[in-house]
Amino acid sequence: MSLSLRFLAVAAAFLIAHTVSAAPIIIKYSHVVADQSPKGQAALKFKELAEKKFPGVVEVQVFPNSQLYGDGKEMEALLLGDVQIIAPSLAKFGKYTKKLQVFDLPFLFDNIQAVDRFQDGPVGQALLNSMTDKGIKGLGYLHNGMKQLSANKPLRTPADAKGLKFRIQSSDVLEAQFKAVGANPQKLAFAEVYQALQSGVVDGTENPWSNTYTKKFHEVQKYIMESDHGVLDYMVVTNAGWWNGLPPNIRKGLNEAMVESIKYGNKIAFDEAANFRQKVIDDKKAEVLPMTRAELNQWRKAMAPVWKQFEPEIGRDVIDAALKANER
Ligand code: LMR
Repeated sequence: MSLSLRFLAVAAAFLIAHTVSAAPIIIKYSHVVADQSPKGQAALKFKELAEKKFPGVVEVQVFPNSQLYGDGKEMEALLLGDVQIIAPSLAKFGKYTKKLQVFDLPFLFDNIQAVDRFQDGPVGQALLNSMTDKGIKGLGYLHNGMKQLSANKPLRTPADAKGLKFRIQSSDVLEAQFKAVGANPQKLAFAEVYQALQSGVVDGTENPWSNTYTKKFHEVQKYIMESDHGVLDYMVVTNAGWWNGLPPNIRKGLNEAMVESIKYGNKIAFDEAANFRQKVIDDKKAEVLPMTRAELNQWRKAMAPVWKQFEPEIGRDVIDAALKANER
């Protein structure tokens, strides 16, 4: 090769390399809830922090409200590399691991603080890696909050739920939970819930306060019971292959941004649950009814067989660790 040709080849190689390295790493972060919810806020915080750490190098695109993928499709999209980060509810991983079903067991956790302790402990942390064999890496847990039952009639005792249709997330444990009280559970995507409640396709549902308020479910339900019978939290997950293929300094920085954004979202979840509850009350669309200990005990008793049913899949050790987190 002549000297000038060689020079041209080197210059072209440099140009290509430069152009390639100049293209930002695009990270699509997709979720199904509103921007104002704890998860919505955490996703936006991640964008802010990641782009501040790597200006021009990393671009985070956040897609809320099932805009890009609804919950039927987001896991597939992650595995195909069409999105890089999602944060599904812990109830939605049943196809990939049975261990996370622990979070859906009714009346397992006394409150969100106990959930936090379990997630932070060794068993909870190990569960972040329970899907690595499927190519899914857990980056952290994110809170939403405890769930309340709702319907168009007061649900004082399990007998009140008999024969009613309840929308549930895609979880076999939640299906068993409603069957245990003689109700008829229906798995529906989150994006379909409002319409299903409004049109009477289902009679009731269960949700934490932030989802109820930001998605206006209280406008299409007459009664919300303060049952706190279960938790709705998330795991922020990424495609393990994509994550491990990132340059180490970028992976480290993104991990730091993720940890910070989760702390931020969790603080909102803790601080704002009472405010979202109050907003629902102030709207005066649905009546919010406290429940007595005796009433809650009836639900607890009726739903207790669900624990035994799922213990072989979840593991006694995992359930015990979760129970231990209730002790303070
Ligand atoms: C639901 O489907 O009810 C929730 O998982 C939605 C969410 O992401 O909070």
